[in-house]
Amino acid sequence: MVRFIALVVIVLASAGGASAGAPAGGLAELVAEGERWWKSSPDPRDPVACATCHYDPAETRGWAASFPKYRPLPPPEGRVMTLFQANAEAVQRHYRLPDAERPALAITAYLTSHGAGTPISPGIVAGQAVFESRLRALAESVARGERLYARWCRSCHDAGAVTPAALLFPAAGNGQVESLERFLGRHRPELPRLGSDGQPSADVIAFLMSRLAGRPVSVAPFSVAP
Ligand code: HEC
Ligand code: HEC
Repeated sequence: MVRFIALVVIVLASAGGASAGAPAGGLAELVAEGERWWKSSPDPRDPVACATCHYDPAETRGWAASFPKYRPLPPPEGRVMTLFQANAEAVQRHYRLPDAERPALAITAYLTSHGAGTPISPGIVAGQAVFESRLRALAESVARGERLYARWCRSCHDAGAVTPAALLFPAAGNGQVESLERFLGRHRPELPRLGSDGQPSADVIAFLMSRLAGRPVSVAPFSVAP
């Protein structure tokens, strides 16, 4: 409880100052930007966009609730990923953009708003096949994440108090928008660089999300209708 109060005080105290990060802009703008990335390719010679293949909104509605999960990419790339990481991988592969962070962040915000209200169910999309081996890989990721959490996070955060904050991302604070992956790796100087695209941040987030199963996906501070 003391830690929680300290956290709130620090959050309030730091709310005024802008910090480095993604370009300024609210969450609504980010969602709209994500929709553009989703629906149109940046390359006029290759107009195939995310929505060309993923054209069924009913199918993509379950995505945000189902990550982190094992993505069966060709070896050795198959691993547990967050939605942001899976989008970054897809942006690199399909749009061939070397710097995928901003488009992936925007697409993540768009898909999260599109999936708002769906109960969180890591590893599982309602109505789609469930693979035991992928759920096992996810359980291993959650276990690694729990160990990382004990080592790096628990000294400052009680897991019960901080996990719901994972649902506030992509976050728009101080007029900035940022992925949870990037935030976790930079918000305390004493933390090791988690690497927003790497396995450690996916593992920590898998642990946090495993504790949020059943809660609705949300886009803070408001939800945008798809
Ligand atoms: C040429 C077709 C094609 C295009 C273009 C495409 N995808 Fe995909 N995507 C797929 C296929 C096929 C899958 C595999 C389904 C699976 O693995 O679950 C997939 C899976 C995914 C998944 C994992 C979904 C899940 O539930 O596991 C994400 C996230 C994703 N794509 C994002 C994107 C994004 C973002 C873009 C645009 C940058 C994009 N895709 C463009 C074909 C495509
Ligand atoms: C040295 C103390 C410290 C450590 C270690 C630390 N945090 Fe934090 N964390 C803070 C403080 C202080 C804030 C609030 C200030 C801010 O938002 O930057 C915060 C904010 C957060 C938030 C956002 C809370 C919100 O309401 O917006 C999350 C989520 C979070 N931390 C998770 C983690 C995780 C996961 C780890 C381990 C990888 C971690 N923190 C490690 C001190 C710490």
